[in-house]
This record gives sequence, structure tokens and C-alpha cells, in this order.
Amino acid sequence: MNKKKYYITTPIYYPSGKPHMGHAYSSIIADVIARYKRLEGYEVYFLTGTDEHGLKIQREAEKNKKDTQKFCNELSEKFKELTKILNLSNNDFIRTTEKRHYRSVEDLWKKLEKSGDIYLDKYKGWYSVSDEAYYDDDEIIEQAGSKISKLSGSKVEWVEEESYFFKLSSWAKRLLDHYKSHPNFILPASRNNEVVKFVEKGLKDLSVSRTSFSWGIPVPKNQKHIIYVWLDALTNYLSALNYPDTSSDLYKSFWPADLHIIGKDILRFHAIYWPAFLMAAKLPLPKRIFGHGWILSDEKKMSKSLGNILDPIDIIENYGIDQLRYYLIKEVSLGNDGNVSLNNLKNCINNDLANNYGNLCQRVFSFLKKNCSNKIPQTDTFTNEDKALTSKLKNDIDKLNQLIDEQDLNIYIKKVIEYSFDSNKYFNDSEPWSLKKTDENRMNSVLYSIVEQIKNISILLLPIIPNSANKILDVINVSKDQRVISDINKSKTLNHNKELGKIEILFKKVE
Ligand code: MSP
Repeated sequence: MNKKKYYITTPIYYPSGKPHMGHAYSSIIADVIARYKRLEGYEVYFLTGTDEHGLKIQREAEKNKKDTQKFCNELSEKFKELTKILNLSNNDFIRTTEKRHYRSVEDLWKKLEKSGDIYLDKYKGWYSVSDEAYYDDDEIIEQAGSKISKLSGSKVEWVEEESYFFKLSSWAKRLLDHYKSHPNFILPASRNNEVVKFVEKGLKDLSVSRTSFSWGIPVPKNQKHIIYVWLDALTNYLSALNYPDTSSDLYKSFWPADLHIIGKDILRFHAIYWPAFLMAAKLPLPKRIFGHGWILSDEKKMSKSLGNILDPIDIIENYGIDQLRYYLIKEVSLGNDGNVSLNNLKNCINNDLANNYGNLCQRVFSFLKKNCSNKIPQTDTFTNEDKALTSKLKNDIDKLNQLIDEQDLNIYIKKVIEYSFDSNKYFNDSEPWSLKKTDENRMNSVLYSIVEQIKNISILLLPIIPNSANKILDVINVSKDQRVISDINKSKTLNHNKELGKIEILFKKVE
């Protein structure tokens, strides 16, 4: 059968230092959505990778006294390892130093040249190496004797050199038309407004090549120019689909992308430059760009230069990957900035995972072991209370699909954990331990209903805490092909014949 397709990407990361929480956050968001869409029956292509060219990387390698390519190889490997540590389900990992990417960038460049959107001139203005971005005079302020960008706070330097320009100015009107006719192209809406305001002021042509350094992809037919690292980097989304081979299966199946997940600091590149390049090259535009907020620590952006970093790898070693994934998605409303702290992480692990979902599974499975030969009982009659418990979740499926499609991940998680809370309450109120003595049939229907509910909650938790939710589904012998959204609304699917698998404590409480 021809499955519906879904293409989702993370930003590709600068391998200029080791990965931090901000990187982990972008990647986990994309992974949760990728996993959910697979559960919904889509064939998903999920891409991540590293952005390895440009002056920022070249200088970082020089600082470390390393050959630039070797420096990139080492750090890119760290990001690749991170995909394993974060349990990402990415289908591909692209590096901009790969041949397939060169081919793709060169082709895009030639298309832009051919359409008449590129011309040679001289660039005079401010450049931030840290952001790899050009800034206008009115975007610069002076602080402690240095010029910095108002937007990012990073240092800028004056650049004057021959440069190719992309005629960005001529695309402003068509960009505004596109934002207007596709109100969900940039989300959340506040980010869309920001971009619209910026474009309405008019756009200047964009310098898209540099001559003062060498680490990058040379301009075809004028090798002293290096293609601007953002034009290079953005093209990764196409390179991974075998572009310029537009007849390849990957390209035909997955372009245009359904969703680019990015941080709000790189909105301008994705929401203005990228669609303008694509329009000029006569290629379809991605369907959505979602700009998430920042992970803050002590109300400030977590970053190397501020020294307020919570290291994701330390946290995973101490608390577990599912715990970190759950916490980041639950705690931060996607789109807004969110403060994270160890204290809140611990509270979240204890309240939601250990005392709520973990405890629900633990107590139900122990009860079955003690009282029902470690099997799920058979039953045919359900009371209104039983039906009320299971049907609430079932009736919510369309709403849950919608929450994921609107990238409302923390509302989604709150809903799912509420089903678990309700299930604990139902277990207490139904008192199966008393029914054991008075009404065994009724006890059976209570137990059946609650295990069905555990199954469905676990399916809904698979995208967020895949390791733990899969373990629970293993315990109750749910087959791999049943671990999909469409199974939730099927009735009487539980396996009565097989004994439950071995139960281990999933979420240890933390002090
Ligand atoms: N290389 C570019 C992206 C190119 S995409 C074609 C880049 N790389 S980055 O490594 O600096 O950042 C990658 C992502 O991490 C961005 O989406 C950025 O927003 C995110 N984060 C970095 N620090 C962050 C926080 N403190 N909080 C949340 N995310 C932030 O930009």
C-alpha cells in the first residue's frame, strides 16, 4: 500500500563545540513528532545532521590547532552519538561536507544564477561570525567598546569585499503574499507576525558569497568565492533527498518538507531566505516552519558563552533519557521560552512518571500476578464506569492528532498524563481487592478495562518515552503491529492467554 508521506527536519548543528541542551531540545521535538506520525500510519523521513562550513567553524578549528576537516569529523561524530543517546529515530544524518551536499548546493546556485537572481558587487557592512549573519546598521549597538547585534548579542565585525548578491529585495512582495495565503506557514502566529513586520519594511539584497576565507563550497566558475554558509546549510534539506535528482524516489516522495523544526534565533534564515531561494529556483516551498522558544536556565538562554549549561548527557546518565524527553516536552510550551532546572526535572519525574504512570502499571501488574495467575482476565460485560474510563481517551484521538499537527506537544502530554491520573483513581474507587471476595466477574471487567487503558496510554506515550512505553507494552504482550494509533479504537484486543512479562521498576523516584 502507498503510505502517506511526512518529511520532518531538525536544524543542522554547528559542530563548533559539544552538543548542549538547546540542540537536544530541537532534536527531541522533531523526534516526538516523527514517531507520532509513524504511529498514525505515515511513512516518515526524519532528517538531522551537522552544518560544517563557514568562518565560525574554520576559526574554531584554528583555535583548537586542528585541521578543519578533522575537527569537523570529530565533532560531527559527537552529534551523531547524541542521536543515539537521545534515542532519535532519524532516517538520515547529513553532513554539509559530504559530496551529495556539494552537488545539491552547486545546482541550486546555478539555478539562482540562471533565473537572474544573482549578481556580482561589493559588500560593505556588519557580519557576526558567531551567528554567520549580516546585520544592518540599525541592528547594531555598542557595548563595552564592541559592536554587537541587538538581536543575538553576539559581536559583529566590519566586512568590505567583493561578493555575489541574491536579489532578495525583489522577493519581498511574493514572500508577503505567501505568508498571507498560507497562514500556517510560519508558526507560532507570533513568529509569523515578527517575520511579516520585518519583510514589510522592505528587504535588502543578500550577500551570498565571501572571498576572505576558504572553508566552504566554492561558487561554480568563480572559485575564489565561497558560497554563504546559510545558503549552503539550508540546502541540506534538499540534498538528503538526492536533489538535484528530482526524479529520485526520495525527492518525489518527500519534497516539499512538511515541517522544519527550528529555534526562534534562526527564523529569518528559514522563513525569509529559504523560501526566497526556493521560489527563485522554482522549487516548491516547505509546508511549515515552526520556531520553538529557548530553553532558559535562570531566565537566560542556555549557552556556552553564558556558562549556564545543563549538560544533556550528564542528565541522561543520572536520570534517564525518557525522563529528560518527557520533562522537556512537558515543561516548555512549544513556541515559548521555558526555564528548566534540576529541581523541576526531579518533581516531574516523581509526580508524573514514578507516582502516576509508573505506579499505575506497577500496581495493576502486581495485582494481576497475585490474583489472576499473572494473566489479563476474560470478560464480556462492562459497566458504565468501565466504558467511561476507556472511551474518554478513544473519543479524544482526533483531538490528539490535531494537537500533534499543531505542534501543541505540551498540551498533548498533559492530556495523556491525565488519563493515567484518572485510571489510578478508577482503580482506587473500584477496589478490585474487595471485588475479589464479592464479585469476581466485576473484578475481571475492572481489570480488563484498566489494562486496556494502560495499553492505550502507553501507545500515546511511545513518541515521548519510547523505551519505557515499549517495556509496558511488552509486559502485556501487545504485538509490534498493534502499537499504532489505529489500534486504540479496536475493542477486545488484549491477549488473555499469555502470562504477563516480567515487570521492572520503570521510573525510580529521585531525591
Ligand atoms: N547551523 C545552524 C542551523 C542551520 S539549519 C539549516 C545553527 N546551528 S546551532 O547549532 O547554533 O543551533 C541549532 C539549533 O539549536 C537552533 O534551532 C537553536 O535555536 C537551537 N538552540 C541553541 N541554543 C538553544 C537554547 N538555549 N534553547 C533552545 N534551543 C536553542 O543555528
